[in-house]
Amino acid sequence: MKKNITIAIDGTAASGKGTLAKKLAKEFNYAHLDTGKLYRASALIIKEKDINYQNLKEIIKIIKDYNFTDFDFNNDKLKSDKIGRLASLISGYKELREILLLSQRKFANKRHSKRLGVILDGRDIGSVVLPEANIKFFVTASLRVRAERRWKELISLGQSTIKRHVEKDLRDRDERDSKRKHSPLIISPDAVLIDTTNLNADEVFLLAKNNVEEYLRY
Ligand code: C5P
Repeated sequence: MKKNITIAIDGTAASGKGTLAKKLAKEFNYAHLDTGKLYRASALIIKEKDINYQNLKEIIKIIKDYNFTDFDFNNDKLKSDKIGRLASLISGYKELREILLLSQRKFANKRHSKRLGVILDGRDIGSVVLPEANIKFFVTASLRVRAERRWKELISLGQSTIKRHVEKDLRDRDERDSKRKHSPLIISPDAVLIDTTNLNADEVFLLAKNNVEEYLRY
């Protein structure tokens, strides 16, 4: 079972892809990067500097020289709906995607001490960031189920929010992510499709774990 592996996990917003990535990383002791956090971090940085999301020139100027190793990725502000929405608005910029692409590939190609694998989750991992990934998963679920999950998560974080608004936000985000010109959210033809509508996190994990073990066996 000692074999290097790269795993790409893409999917719709609040589909459970992040939870799956974390569980797989823990099980197999692989390095994991939640690439959505890079887009959310960029959104938070420009928000805190009061830069309008349409001001591409300023956004690039700031993000190009930003040292993300100094950024606190555990900051709860990253999880808010507003930051998710802002991240999705700026993620349409090709120039920003090119900058963040470098950080993602760097992470994927770096040696992570004794870890034999890397897992990246996002929207364009299997199609653009790591088209040569050994295993690709595409995770999704019905809009209603995803909205319910995200709403509960936001409530548990103490953020008061209305379920209907969460659902609209997810719908808008999916649409923007799927219709954008650069690196849209697509299902790679070689991805394993996992619909989590009627599955809990453990069932999703077992399904994916079987795929990984199958790959490692041969
Ligand atoms: O996955 P998460 O909800 O944290 O991502 C926030 C936003 O960042 C997404 O709605 C999407 O617009 C953008 N994103 C992206 N490409 C990725 C990861 C996230 O465009 N690889």
